[in-house]
Amino acid sequence: MSADTTIRRLGADDAASFKALRLEALKATPELFGSTFELEDKLDLAWFADRLEDAHVIGAFRDGELVGIVGFSIQQGPKKAHKGRLWGMYVRPDSRNLGVGRLLVDALLAVARERVELVQLTVVSDNRPARRLYETVGFLEFGLEPKASKYGDRYYDEAHMALDFSRAADVR
Ligand SMILES: CC(C)(COP(=O)(O)OP(=O)(O)OC[C@H]1O[C@@H](n2cnc3c(N)ncnc32)[C@H](O)[C@@H]1OP(=O)(O)O)[C@@H](O)C(=O)NCCC(=O)NCCS
Repeated sequence: MSADTTIRRLGADDAASFKALRLEALKATPELFGSTFELEDKLDLAWFADRLEDAHVIGAFRDGELVGIVGFSIQQGPKKAHKGRLWGMYVRPDSRNLGVGRLLVDALLAVARERVELVQLTVVSDNRPARRLYETVGFLEFGLEPKASKYGDRYYDEAHMALDFSRAADVR
């Protein structure tokens, strides 16, 4: 169960484990993320440490090991700063279906609620587990982008989802 999971913000000192888990995610399911393993494998540890300082990345630890991550960033520019983005959600396969993903999203929303009016994300449209998780906490789909990404010979449609704090009923 999720009781033995610790959730906390990652800092620059976590750069090595963050990089390892991020690369694991990109290698295992490249079609589900905007970036690629090849691109991020080349980046040094300092780049990941900077990323952890700039963005708010939340980690889930089980037995002291980082098993899940999710990122939160406030969008850039004076007309976009009321919106946040959820990105880079990943839970290691042997820690799935234990509530870890839900704990990560809940922690992200607690931070986001204090800083932005709404949170947006994109998710590959046939990624049922992720969509279900986002729907469970109150995200609603507001658009579908056909052929949003292409990996190898395959195209992937992406659903755009948002959780508007001013509208969201408490679904928990
Ligand atoms: C999506 C992901 C983060 C879910 O993490 P998780 O720790 O397994 O999720 P939880 O155990 O907290 O489950 C929370 C909810 O998600 C949904 N869910 C999780 N796994 C599911 C599955 N296999 N099928 C359907 N729904 C699922 C359920 O609604 C679940 O709620 P419930 O327990 O009331 O049924 C995980 O499957 C993952 O890392 N997938 C690969 C990467 C990915 O898809 N990232 C998202 C990119 S946008």
